[in-house]
Amino acid sequence: MARRKPLVIVTRKLPDVIETRMMELFDTRLNEHDQPMSRDELIEAAKTAEVLVPTVTDRVDGAVLGHANDKLRLIASFGTGVDHIDLAAARDRGITVTNTPGVLTEDTADMTMALILAVPRRLVEGERLVRAGEWRGWGPTAMLGHRIWGKRLGIIGMGRIGGAVARRARGFGLSIHYHNRNRLPEEVELELEATWWESLDQMLARMDIVSVNCPHTPATYHLLSARRLALLRPHAYIVNTSRGEVIDEAALTRLMSDGKIAGVGLDVFEHEPAINPKLLGFDNAVLLPHMSSATIEARIDMGEKVLINIKTFIDGHTPPDRVIASLVQ
Ligand code: 8YV
Repeated sequence: MARRKPLVIVTRKLPDVIETRMMELFDTRLNEHDQPMSRDELIEAAKTAEVLVPTVTDRVDGAVLGHANDKLRLIASFGTGVDHIDLAAARDRGITVTNTPGVLTEDTADMTMALILAVPRRLVEGERLVRAGEWRGWGPTAMLGHRIWGKRLGIIGMGRIGGAVARRARGFGLSIHYHNRNRLPEEVELELEATWWESLDQMLARMDIVSVNCPHTPATYHLLSARRLALLRPHAYIVNTSRGEVIDEAALTRLMSDGKIAGVGLDVFEHEPAINPKLLGFDNAVLLPHMSSATIEARIDMGEKVLINIKTFIDGHTPPDRVIASLVQ
């Protein structure tokens, strides 16, 4: 006799092909209107689902999991970052957590590189000028930015995405520096001609551009604190395509107000979708709506990973992208 299909609750609208396959494989409840779930709706989902498919916009914390039904066995998150899930609470309740690593590496690295180019070269400012009808023609000293070639890039977090950023940046003539918990194998350092800094403080004080590519964990919350941000030289730029919480956004905003940093490119924010209103007023800030992995290809690949994780788990195997709480935090 065929086995009963598990009840899977998906919190946001996913690509059509993924939703269709999910309907075929499981007893699936979709979010047709893509309205983010309220806290009560999320609690209700945790009470009902056997498998929950959340995204970065759902805060699956200890309190939500406290309401979970014993039937909830798997949280198959759509995304790589897992900072929206209380991993320890899930582990304590015997709930497996999976994510979707690897498939958004190249797209996120592309967007990081786009910001590294856009901010020093004032790309968005120039575009705004043209659209506003304020461009009066070419001028020898008009719209001057700063050269990328030959500058020093300091990558914070040299995992998959950090490495992909380094490979791209080399093509643009940047020299690669990085700070990471673990030093890269010697052959990778040689390939990238990368310099490892055990001390983040020392690296920050010497870079022209800093890229945040580490995950948000309790250990990286406000890693770029007010004290560390003050170590940056005034001509330095920061780009962040990781998580807003890694930077103290209020301190960063003060630094911008005081002209102690040359510019920022931010795809993520500490309290997104809310943004410190002062940031909106700076011409030297490029602000994006958390879109670094927003390609159709990445979103389909992410969905396929979710499907595989659920299916393997339901079939009684360890899902390929299981997240182990102690390794993340
Ligand atoms: C995802 C991300 O699209 O995967 C991540 O960690 O930050 C995003 O690019 C988002 O998290 C989907 O839940």
